Amino acid sequence: MSRSNPKTGAITRLLQVSRFLKPYTLRIIAALIALVITAGIMLSIGQGVRFMVDQGLATESLDSLGNTVIGFIGLTLALAAGTFARFYLVSWVGERVVTDIRQAVFSHVIELHPGFFETNLSGEIQSRITTDTTLLQSVLGSSASIALRNIIMLFGGSTLMLITNIKLSVIILTSLPFIVFPILLIGRRVRSLSRKSQDRIADVGTYVGESLQNVKTVHAFNHQQLAKQRFDRFAEQAFETAVTRIRYRSILIALAITLVLGAIGAMFWVGGKDVISGVISGGDLAAFVFYAILVAMSLGAISEVYGELQRAAGATDRLVELLNAESLILDPETPVSLPDNHQGEVEVKSLTFFYPSRPDHAALKDISLNLEAGKSVAFVGPSGAGKTTFFDLILRFYDPQEGGIYIDGINIRDLTLEDLRRDIAIVPQLPTLFTGTVRENICYGNPDATHEEVVAAAKAAYAEEFIGRLPEGYDSDLGEGGVRLSGGQRQRIAIARAILKNPKILLLDEATSALDAESEHVVQKALETLMEGRTTFVIAHRLSTVIHADLIAVFDQGRLVEQGSHNELMASSELYSRLAALQFKEPLVG
Ligand SMILES: Nc1ncnc2c1ncn2[C@@H]1O[C@H](COP(=O)(O)OP(=O)(O)OP(=O)(O)O)[C@@H](O)[C@H]1O
Ligand SMILES: [Mg+2]
Repeated sequence: MSRSNPKTGAITRLLQVSRFLKPYTLRIIAALIALVITAGIMLSIGQGVRFMVDQGLATESLDSLGNTVIGFIGLTLALAAGTFARFYLVSWVGERVVTDIRQAVFSHVIELHPGFFETNLSGEIQSRITTDTTLLQSVLGSSASIALRNIIMLFGGSTLMLITNIKLSVIILTSLPFIVFPILLIGRRVRSLSRKSQDRIADVGTYVGESLQNVKTVHAFNHQQLAKQRFDRFAEQAFETAVTRIRYRSILIALAITLVLGAIGAMFWVGGKDVISGVISGGDLAAFVFYAILVAMSLGAISEVYGELQRAAGATDRLVELLNAESLILDPETPVSLPDNHQGEVEVKSLTFFYPSRPDHAALKDISLNLEAGKSVAFVGPSGAGKTTFFDLILRFYDPQEGGIYIDGINIRDLTLEDLRRDIAIVPQLPTLFTGTVRENICYGNPDATHEEVVAAAKAAYAEEFIGRLPEGYDSDLGEGGVRLSGGQRQRIAIARAILKNPKILLLDEATSALDAESEHVVQKALETLMEGRTTFVIAHRLSTVIHADLIAVFDQGRLVEQGSHNELMASSELYSRLAALQFKEPLVG
């Protein structure tokens, strides 16, 4: 839709978020009113200054001084109230809108087809949701209103300057470029340096993250010293960039003070002479100086926020692009639903699939397979044969180019994704646990499960015993990604999760890494419980699994080359007997 074009102006691109502003129109209008009123008050303070000087000080009458001071205080209070309203409303809208955008982006992205994340790195998406939205928030929550207020001040101030004194205004306006231009030039340099400075800090952060996440590898290789040196280098680079930025910034401040105060001095000289010769009043001069400072300040503020507006426009482009990304895996327009007590028979009909990034090399070619409800099939085959790819297809992470997969005669593409995936549980090679407690991780299989159901699932998964030994039982925190559990324990949690989900179809990716004999034994028993009465596909790395399966399917380079029982295949398939000899880790027992 609104494919962004970086050439169009920052403002137009920022307007892409206008649909997120819409619900808050009333607040925005109120904020605008407060903004115009406060800018008006600010401008009228100049008139107050003139009045105070001419009527209060010059006439030496205490009464009129008192009145003007009271007027001044009134204006100040109104200014304070208006500023409060403006600041509160604008910041509120900024925070609210950015929260809405964050939620919209995440809830859109989490629904995208998994293939999307092969070309769009999750780290980058993460930084879009955090950093880009923060940038946008600073613009919506302050910069936009600063810009608007200062534009009003600039025009209002200049007009009042002209009205107050034309001669002085002309002098100021002609000398303005000589003051503003050098300041802008150095200001721009400072801005680009501070961006560089931020990048350097990000490098430092990335390095810290990587080193700490892999602290065991660092220590195991005695790399602490090297790590320190590399970190020091990153930190020093950040420091050097910062120093350059500080140098320019100091120059900028000194230059601004010299030029601006010099100009004001010149103004006092020219204007003061006119006051002395009686051409203008002291109040006129004071008001004029007030407006000149106002104009100068608003110019400075505008140039300051302009860079930020541009950066926020870039951030908006990236967020809008994410919001417009379309999922390639969608629900059918007229979904069919599985009958309530369906069996879970799976039929694969001449399935051919290419990964989008490898259009000339079929990951699966012409696969046909029939698995009766409740039976199990063991997938064996060399690495890269396409076994995991098949799991991705039955879960509809990808759609095949030809053929299809049918559950009880219904093409999985005719089911809603939710129905299909409700029917399937997967226990992956390296089970994914999430930060949280044992209970939360088991309940991933069914968020509504009762405590009794969770315990029953843990028992069936042979996990009850070790969970009982954890410090807080089911409420023990497992740490990020479940780091506080051993490999075998993680697998049993994943099995308990699958049991709780109670699916018709089961996908198991056996762990290749050998667990110790005892935990392997319990994991095996847990799996057997899980497989009971379910249609099971298992990527097998253990002979016992293969032998117990109802059917063995041998994959090689994307093809299903043989199907049969262990004994049949040992006799007929050279590949299978070779795999059996080399790959299956335990000797043939029982
Ligand atoms: N996301 C992807 N994009 C492109 N090609 C892929 C992708 N994932 C896997 N492949 C390729 O598809 C082929 C099949 O991979 P798959 O992961 O299904 O193998 P596998 O049989 O599970 O192997 P292993 O036993 O090592 O797990 C491989 O050649 C692999 O390089
Ligand atoms: Mg695999």
